[in-house]
Amino acid sequence: KITNMTKIIDQLEKKRLEAREGGGKKRIDAQHARGKLTARERIEVLLDEGSFEEYDMYVEHRTNDFGMANQKFAGDGVVTGSGRINGKLVYVFSQDFTVFGGSLSETHASKICKVMDMAIQNGAPMIGLNDSGGARIQEGVSSLGGYAEVFKRNILASGVIPQISVIMGPCAGGAVYSPAITDFIFMVRGSSYMFVTGPDVVKTVTNESVTAEDLGGAGTHTTKSSVADIAFDNDVLALREVRRLLKYLPASNRVAPPFSKVHDSPVRVENSLDSLIPSDAGVAYDIKELIIKLADEYDFFEIQSDFARNIVIGFIRLGGSSIGVVANQPKVLAGCLDVDSSRKAARFVRFCDAFNIPILTLVDVPGFLPGTQQEYGGIIKH
Ligand code: HXC
Repeated sequence: KITNMTKIIDQLEKKRLEAREGGGKKRIDAQHARGKLTARERIEVLLDEGSFEEYDMYVEHRTNDFGMANQKFAGDGVVTGSGRINGKLVYVFSQDFTVFGGSLSETHASKICKVMDMAIQNGAPMIGLNDSGGARIQEGVSSLGGYAEVFKRNILASGVIPQISVIMGPCAGGAVYSPAITDFIFMVRGSSYMFVTGPDVVKTVTNESVTAEDLGGAGTHTTKSSVADIAFDNDVLALREVRRLLKYLPASNRVAPPFSKVHDSPVRVENSLDSLIPSDAGVAYDIKELIIKLADEYDFFEIQSDFARNIVIGFIRLGGSSIGVVANQPKVLAGCLDVDSSRKAARFVRFCDAFNIPILTLVDVPGFLPGTQQEYGGIIKH
């Protein structure tokens, strides 16, 4: 009996090892050669050490078409589970590009949905690490049905738990819509892309020639489209900043925003602020200096720093409490309000509202930016 048990344990260990290998060594090496971490390495960087509890490690897809019956990988291209960040519970999925390009199959989707359901039920943030070629082509409409299930949960979770997406690879087609409706999107420079149709399709349909980077790279989405919030130079930096962002966010809309002891005096005097605002109203100054000096421990987590820079948004702490800051930036376009800055601020205010985070507004604004471009852009509505 004991030898039987040892055999079973050995088999289990072998299966675990196989699952951890994802799509195999060659594909893992290719992932590393592109400067990308694997799905599992990313989870290790993201979560507190040793806190990851994996679910559904051995789940495989159920397709037999296109020779798929004999192409199965334990986990089916996504690693899911729960863990802790700074001691707090979070749920996570991490797509594995080494397995069918991280593409979404029916079972891959149901694994993601399971952790989303748990996050909503238990009131804990949901973090998605995205690295996916979109719908699993071999599954056709079953894959698309899987997307529908994921999107539905994004909507149910919206305003209930914080949802954070990190784009860490070529997210094409269906892979972009779910992140787009989450609260914060981080991207990695040089290795992550988001587009509904890639450069080849663009060329065929509109005859426009554009590189993947220009069409949907981190630069494009953090400066032009505002689809993404912040760009980072590599996977590790992006994941570390997710950990930092979470310090400002409540676990759900059912609990108070975080409060933590800070090593800063609430009556600290900043003499330099006496002369920050110039006596001449025509002279610009940097509102970020004021925000940083107001903040506990001079710590400011800025969101969308490279888009609509005439308004500044982000999180600070005041007396230990988490606070959202919205501030006009006199240094850029004299801090006037236009379509982009209005959209940027409004979305942020909506997030803070949903999660009971107080807002500090710093106002120094000459008014709206006049002109046809603004009116045609719908400034009135924005
Ligand atoms: C199945 C896929 C896949 C997919 C990639 N692979 N995308 N398998 N379904 N969607 C597989 C490849 O066959 C390959 O397998 C491995 O993943 C790595 O892909 P490569 O092409 O070698 O990598 P790379 O050159 O880096 O290119 C990555 C890529 C490209 C840009 C993502 O693979 C690509 O364009 N894929 C297709 C994208 C796409 O059309 N997706 C569907 C969109 S439609 P091997 O075995 O060689 O390692 C959609 C509709 C959603 O999503 C609608 C929702 C409502």
